[in-house]
Amino acid sequence: MDRFLVTGGARLSGSVPIAGAKNSALKLMAAALLAPGRTVLSNVPRIQDCLTMVEVLQHLGADVAWEDDLTIDAGAVLSVEAPYELVSRMRASILVLGPLLARCGRARVAMPGGCNIGSRKIDLHVRGLEKMGARFSSEHGFLEGVAPRGLSGAIISLDFPSVGATENVMMAAVAARGTTVIENAAREPELSDLAEFLQEMGGRIDGVGTPTIEIEGTGDFHPVRHSVIPDRIEAGTFAIATCATGGQVVLERARGDHMDLVLAKLTELGADAVATEAGVAVGLEDRPRAVDFVTLPYPGFPTDLQPQMMALLSVAEGTSIVTENVFESRFMFVDELNRMGADIRTEGHHAVIRGVDHLSAAPVRALDIRAGAAMVIAALCADGVTAVEDMYHVDRGYQDFEAKLLSLGAEVRRERQLTPALW
Ligand code: EPZ
Repeated sequence: MDRFLVTGGARLSGSVPIAGAKNSALKLMAAALLAPGRTVLSNVPRIQDCLTMVEVLQHLGADVAWEDDLTIDAGAVLSVEAPYELVSRMRASILVLGPLLARCGRARVAMPGGCNIGSRKIDLHVRGLEKMGARFSSEHGFLEGVAPRGLSGAIISLDFPSVGATENVMMAAVAARGTTVIENAAREPELSDLAEFLQEMGGRIDGVGTPTIEIEGTGDFHPVRHSVIPDRIEAGTFAIATCATGGQVVLERARGDHMDLVLAKLTELGADAVATEAGVAVGLEDRPRAVDFVTLPYPGFPTDLQPQMMALLSVAEGTSIVTENVFESRFMFVDELNRMGADIRTEGHHAVIRGVDHLSAAPVRALDIRAGAAMVIAALCADGVTAVEDMYHVDRGYQDFEAKLLSLGAEVRRERQLTPALW
C-alpha cells in the first residue's frame, strides 16, 4: 500500500532511459510456451506484471530465470491451468490461452474479470479460437478450452481490433493446420514485436501492422533470443510529465515512429517534440494550449495515455474536449483530478476540460496503472505536497518510477504504508 509524496513546482530536465514495453514483454513471455527449450528475452521491464507472468509460466511447468536477461525453458509444460490467484492480479494471463491450446490442445484459465477501466470482455478471443476448432466451457470462474483434433486455420473477422484477441489468435494460428486470416486485426507496435518473435521461432506471418494478417501454420518452433521494443506508453508518460512541468527531457531509446500522433498532439499544445538519434526530445516552456483528442486503436491516440493527457490539459490555456473510444469507463480518475482543483465534466465517452491556472495538493489515489501516473503528473504541477495512495497500481507498469522522476529533478518520495489508507 505504498504512497508517493510529491512536491509540485520542479521543472523536469535531463534524460531518462525508457524500459522495454510491458505490453509486448508479457506476450513474448506467453509465446515462449510454444517452443520447447530455452527462450532468452532481453530488455524485459522489471515491473510487477512481468513478475506475475513469471509466476504464471512457472505454474505451468516452465523453468524461468531472470538475471539481466529473462530465460524461459518451456521444455516441459506440465500444467495447462492459470489459477485465479494469478489471473486476478493480471488480466494479461489470458494470453496463455492461445499458446496452450496450440501446444497442449487444452487450457484452463481463470476468468480475468473487469477492472477500473471497463468490463474487459474476452468474447473476441473465444470466438476467434472457436473458429479454429477449439471448444470452450466455463464453470466455477474458469474458462476451459479444448482442441482434441488440434487447431485448423480459419478466416476470423474481429468486431473490434482487439489487441489481446489478435495476439491470442495469432499465437494459436502459427501452430494450426493450414492458413488463418485475421481481418480487422489490431496494429499496435507490440503486435509487430510479437509477430517478429514468432517468425524468428519458425512461424510464417504476413501483414502484421495492417488490418489483415495472414498466418501459415507450421509444426515446429525453436526457442530464440529476442529484445523487447521500448515502451511507447512509458515514453509518452514522461513526455507529458515534462510538458506539465515546463521542462526539457530526452527520452532515451524511445521510438518516435511508435509515437507519431502523441508527438503531433504535444506539438499542437505548444511543445517541441522530435525524434532524435538518442530517442525523443520533448520540451515546453510556456503554459500548454488546450487541444482536443480522441482515443482510438493504433495508429490513433493511445487510450493508455488518455489519463496522463487529461492531467496536463487540466492546467492548459483554454477548454479541451476528450473522447474515450476504447474503454467504456476510463474516466473514473477524473474525480481525483477535480479534488485537486481541475475543472472537468464527463458525459459518457466525452470529457470537457476547462483549463485552470493551477492545481492544488489534495489526498488522492491511483485507480489503475495509467490513472496513477496521471495523478503523479498532476501532483508535479500542483501547489503543495500531494499524497498519491495505492501506488502499487503504478508499480505494475512502470520500472523505477520514482527514481526516474528524481533523476529529472522532481521532488517525490515513496512512503511504505503498513496499513491501507483510511478513507
Ligand atoms: C491491451 O489490453 C493493453 N494491455 C491495454 O493496456 C491497452 O489499453 C489495450 O490493449 C488497448 O490498446 C496489454 O497489452 C496487457 P483490447 P487488451 O482487447 O488487449 C474490448 C495498460 O495500462 N474487447 O484491445 O485487453 C474491450 O472491452 C493496459 O497497459 C471486447 O469487447 O485491450 C475494450 O473495450 C490497460 N472483447 C476494447 O475491446 C474482447 O474479447 C479494447 O480491448 C476483447 C476486447
